[in-house]
Amino acid sequence: APVCVIVTYDRVLDGSDDTPFDCGAVTTALVNAAWSRGLGAVINSQGIMQSPVVREHAGIADDQVIMKSIALGWPDESFPANAVVSERKAVAEATVFVGFGD
Ligand SMILES: Cc1cc2nc3c(=O)[nH]c(=O)nc-3n(C[C@H](O)[C@H](O)[C@H](O)COP(=O)(O)O)c2cc1C
Repeated sequence: APVCVIVTYDRVLDGSDDTPFDCGAVTTALVNAAWSRGLGAVINSQGIMQSPVVREHAGIADDQVIMKSIALGWPDESFPANAVVSERKAVAEATVFVGFGD
């Protein structure tokens, strides 16, 4: 992918339960916005495995904690791996509904 978005959070937010939740929320919003326009978006940890290199290259300040990366690019539909469709659990398997009757 030609573009990599690095999601960071301010170090003062370290330790808050809300911080990873908020990073996940903004990441999901970005991924959904990209795909809704046909732009491929893949959340990944691999892109920040060498986070000191990423920090230096992207000029990310020390007060920012590097959380996750998102690869962006126009999907190559002819690439075989892009034809793979992964399975998902059924909603009923992953969710408990309370108070909705039958
Ligand atoms: C937090 C997180 C980290 C991920 N890290 C990687 C990664 O480092 N490498 C990778 O190939 N996929 C990673 N994935 C999975 C991809 O985002 C994506 O789910 C995967 O390519 C398969 O697509 P699918 O979910 O439609 O099956 C990660 C997903 C999440 C939510």
